[in-house]
Amino acid sequence: MKSSELAEVVSRISAGAKVIVVSNREPYVHERIEEGIRVVRPASGMVTALEPIVRAVGGTWIAYGGGSADRLVVDERGRIALPPDDPKFILKRVWVSRTEEKGYYQGMSNTALWPLCHIVYKRPDFSRSDWEAYKAVNRRFCEAVLEEAGTDPAIVFIQDYHFALLSRMIKDERPDIRVIQFWHIPWPNREAFRIFPWEEELLDGLLGNDILGFHIQYHCNNFLDTVGRAIESLVDYEHFRVFRGGHPTYVRPFPISVDYRQIETDISSSEVEKRRTRFLKELEGDILSTKLYVGADRIDYTKGIVERLRAFDLMLSRYPDTKTKVTMLQLAAPSRTAVAAYRKLNEELDELVDQINWRHQTEEWIPVRFLRAHHDYYAVLAACRMANVLLVTSLHDGMNLVAKEFISARTDGDGILLLSQYTGASRELADALQVNPYDLDQMADAMYAAFLMPEEERRQRMERMRNILEKNDVYRWGANIFQELERTSFLEGMS
Ligand code: G6P
Repeated sequence: MKSSELAEVVSRISAGAKVIVVSNREPYVHERIEEGIRVVRPASGMVTALEPIVRAVGGTWIAYGGGSADRLVVDERGRIALPPDDPKFILKRVWVSRTEEKGYYQGMSNTALWPLCHIVYKRPDFSRSDWEAYKAVNRRFCEAVLEEAGTDPAIVFIQDYHFALLSRMIKDERPDIRVIQFWHIPWPNREAFRIFPWEEELLDGLLGNDILGFHIQYHCNNFLDTVGRAIESLVDYEHFRVFRGGHPTYVRPFPISVDYRQIETDISSSEVEKRRTRFLKELEGDILSTKLYVGADRIDYTKGIVERLRAFDLMLSRYPDTKTKVTMLQLAAPSRTAVAAYRKLNEELDELVDQINWRHQTEEWIPVRFLRAHHDYYAVLAACRMANVLLVTSLHDGMNLVAKEFISARTDGDGILLLSQYTGASRELADALQVNPYDLDQMADAMYAAFLMPEEERRQRMERMRNILEKNDVYRWGANIFQELERTSFLEGMS
């Protein structure tokens, strides 16, 4: 779908109402550096997907201003027009104090809800003061939304688990505002969710939405089961909606995607070529004469980076014909380093990479190259293009957009995707080599199968996956969500 077609759909459905997007992470971060101020695009699947949509549709995006120079570039209401070189929408920054950030972001969002929803055997920790900070910050965002809406009709599109209470807060003040929320991470089964101490309040918060979206049907089912068990409500399985206090929330799957055509264009840009040259210089040695196994992730325990390295190690030991013939290139973006579990993971990864290299390396060959840095969009595309195999081995992932970026980038029709069966993407990308990342033996064998896979098979699989993504790009995702708002409003009018 073209971005202009999405813009038309949204403009027709919103019929003059203001469109306001809310997320925690902002699409552009202003940072102070020696030479002045630089603008950075953060490593976030949510931002990757939403930014092209908001650019196409316009409107206001409200997000937390976390960059060191964020305050310096905005007006007195915290607003700035973006993207910097070709403004298409307004970003309104909301300020959160250090203490609030600790409770709301590091604590409730990333030490409680993140592990709770992913179920990767990392125990969530709950604290009442974090919950209080979470409520206070949701309230602050609610005020920002109401200020932006003024007295006009509005459609608010909330992103993710940082704002479970926001839709209810908005509806309490302005029941006429239409509210949609997309939950970018998995929703766990009800047995897993029931340990959450403020379960009823959180679910009541989410049921303020008119539409609540997840990536896949399985997460929608889990949500309805959780609600049915935990809170007074009427669950209507026929229409997949929940009534709470007479108000319906429609629960729907919308598999998120990427800007397929833009990536197809950008892959042959000089920016991508520059990053490729930079990689080759930085890595030295003749890595291109080996098969490249590439990973590109935030350093997060849900991404299965440790498991991926162990499986790669196992492949080298079990299939010695791969030695000196393969290199693993891991782009690793530091993430949430104020949270203890993330700091521990960084240490574990350093040790593991050292061990593997020590075990296998020769004078001319280093098996694992681990590049810890924030790699921008073009660098990730360059790595996708250089890859013989892209490794996506998440232990659990709502969707995983790197997998989709890789497929979109392969206009040459070659390349293999090795994909965890526990990603949302595995539903659509059935032609990937699918693995269970907990089963290291199987993963090592799959890596070896990729090593041996003939070109014809690689091309057939790639072509089928490209056809799927060409039709289901991120504009289609956005249009589906807005069209669902139209459909459900119609249903409501009938009942
Ligand atoms: C996931 C979440 C996003 C988040 C991203 C990066 O993709 O769904 O909401 O932005 O991780 O995490 P961060 O905490 O750095 O925003």
